[in-house]
Amino acid sequence: MKPKKMDPTISARAPAKVILTGEHFVVLGAPALAMAVNLYSTAHASRNETGKVEVEATLPLRLVDSGESRGVKSEELLKPLRMAAEVVLDRVHGNTRGVHVQVECNIPIGAGLGSSASTSVAIIAAVAKSRGVQLGKKEIFGLAYKPETLIHNKPSGVDQATTTYGGVIQYKSPGKVESIKIDQGPCILVCDTGLHRSTGRLVGAVVKRSKTREAIYRDHVDEVARITKSARRALEGGRDEELGELMNRNQELLQKIGVSHPMLERLIKASMESGALGAKLTGAGGGGCMIALCRGDESKQRIARRLRRMGGTVYKTSLARSGVEVLRDS
Ligand code: MEV
Repeated sequence: MKPKKMDPTISARAPAKVILTGEHFVVLGAPALAMAVNLYSTAHASRNETGKVEVEATLPLRLVDSGESRGVKSEELLKPLRMAAEVVLDRVHGNTRGVHVQVECNIPIGAGLGSSASTSVAIIAAVAKSRGVQLGKKEIFGLAYKPETLIHNKPSGVDQATTTYGGVIQYKSPGKVESIKIDQGPCILVCDTGLHRSTGRLVGAVVKRSKTREAIYRDHVDEVARITKSARRALEGGRDEELGELMNRNQELLQKIGVSHPMLERLIKASMESGALGAKLTGAGGGGCMIALCRGDESKQRIARRLRRMGGTVYKTSLARSGVEVLRDS
């Protein structure tokens, strides 16, 4: 008897991201500058004969809970992952629906590093390829909106754009994503407060406040638009001191709109005292991660030692030039 031919397992991975300038204000219309970093989610997909969408995930859940996410059931965490697989199966006509997806996420969850966008995007690429369809990046980006909306309420799209395209991007809206050419990535240190919270709730609160204080927020959005454009030019021109100053001003505005946190403030202050050129929260804030722009590796290590002593977790990261990629057929 001939051995039964097994369906191949297709793997795809997508990187994490940090936002250099413009988080929250990007939801209100300002452009943001974001960079993909080399922490990854990997999805393994294979067709199954049960007709079911089966999703298993290894997620880094060792993290400290700030209170907001208490009571989250694992099924809730798996919902958007299942949805990412389903949006692809809906798009790929004429196939049986069954697929088995296994996800390994090495990006801390709820830390502002885009773990959800990265897992969705990796799943979309792997499931499509397991059906013989190689999706373009634009289409992967578009399909990731549905699972991202389930988690983040009204996402701007910056997270899934960064993990899809990789490198450094300027993001304003789905139709305005520009890849930025740079020889070397900025020397960015990423440090986690260990306090994790819901991006959707933080974004919702900012959007609500922006409606009751329209004039103030309009000024902030205009200023952040200028910050992002100048930060892009500083990055392209290798003018790190200028980039650092712009990040600091961006942080002041993030603090003003109430998305910082005392622990973030302490880590930011300590980074600056230890020689950083600029430092700010990254992502939705309220805890999560901060970033510091360092003068070089030596300075990065010195700052990292100080932040670790204060209770921060420093991740070893650098620029990820590639966005989502299908890894292999096995
Ligand atoms: C989250 O990484 C970035 C936010 O601006 C939300 C979004 O743009 O969807 C806070």
